Amino acid sequence: MSKTVFSGMRPTGKLHLGHWLGALQNWVNLQKDYQCVFAIADWHALMGEYENSRRLNEYIVDMAIDWIACGIDPDKSILYVQSSVPEHLELQMVLSCLTPLGWLERNPTYKEQLREISSRDLQTYAFLGYPVLQAADILLYKATAVPIGEDQLPHLELCREIARRFNFFYKKELFPDCNPILTQTPRLLGIDRRKMSKSYDNAINLSDSESDIVKKSTKMITDPQRIRISDPGRPEYCNVYSYYQVFAPDLAPDVYDWCTGSKKGCIECKSILGQRIIKYLAPMRAKRNELEKDKDRIRDILNEGAKKAKSIAHKTMIEVREAVFGP
Ligand code: TRP
Ligand code: SF4
Repeated sequence: MSKTVFSGMRPTGKLHLGHWLGALQNWVNLQKDYQCVFAIADWHALMGEYENSRRLNEYIVDMAIDWIACGIDPDKSILYVQSSVPEHLELQMVLSCLTPLGWLERNPTYKEQLREISSRDLQTYAFLGYPVLQAADILLYKATAVPIGEDQLPHLELCREIARRFNFFYKKELFPDCNPILTQTPRLLGIDRRKMSKSYDNAINLSDSESDIVKKSTKMITDPQRIRISDPGRPEYCNVYSYYQVFAPDLAPDVYDWCTGSKKGCIECKSILGQRIIKYLAPMRAKRNELEKDKDRIRDILNEGAKKAKSIAHKTMIEVREAVFGP
């Protein structure tokens, strides 16, 4: 149990199936073999949501509930809110001093977000420094493995470079090298076949009611060439089929058969899928219902997590100060 895993998520709204497949499922499994530290990254969320900052509190509690309902175990892992551990900002300051502006300006994720997101003004001082705070998150716990999505790889690369630069200037090997753990699961598209995202309103959320799931699965876009039941379908072009492969793999061969052999229509196919997603999410729903009744317990868990996180972060900052300013 010597290795530490760190990851974080921004509390910007409800979690959906993509978060589960792309991140949480992986996190849950890592708990068996590592000391895991999972942060609800509210400072990172604020960088984008500073105009709607009052919503963050609600999202934070929702996120904690989703995480625990999915199997993040607060007795094994440290689960806390980033802003409740002030050391993140202290380390961010130190790292900011040695991070060349060019590294941040060249960051492809940054450039893409400035280009693509028009609903908010992201031309801010903090947003340019987003990866510096992310590096501080990881390095504060001396994490050596970071489960992330591919979109976050440039940020992790910056973290490694910042860590090396710190070690080079001040103290060899204070910060270990960290590596990404990429998720193996295939990416699922949203019900409209665009990228699954809260902003497209095309995702099935982990907290959706059974009737929401039924409605959303009925709306899923299928093989566009299949118009009548008698037209054979092409499962490999159908989003519904890829959902079956993930959520009801035992039925996938049957689906292939009824689709290509024109034995069942898309409406029936989607309705069976909806029932299977409901079944798949049932244990999470049960846990979530139970947790929602006791929000004080959620706050206690987060406070407890913050205490544990703080005791590690505090030690690291003593070492950082000594490395930078001397004993
Ligand atoms: N930037 C990450 C995201 O948007 C969230 C995050 C914040 C994070 N701090 C982190 C991820 C540290 C990994 C490690 O998904
Ligand atoms: Fe897709 Fe099912 Fe329709 Fe085939 S039958 S096209 S797999 S929804």
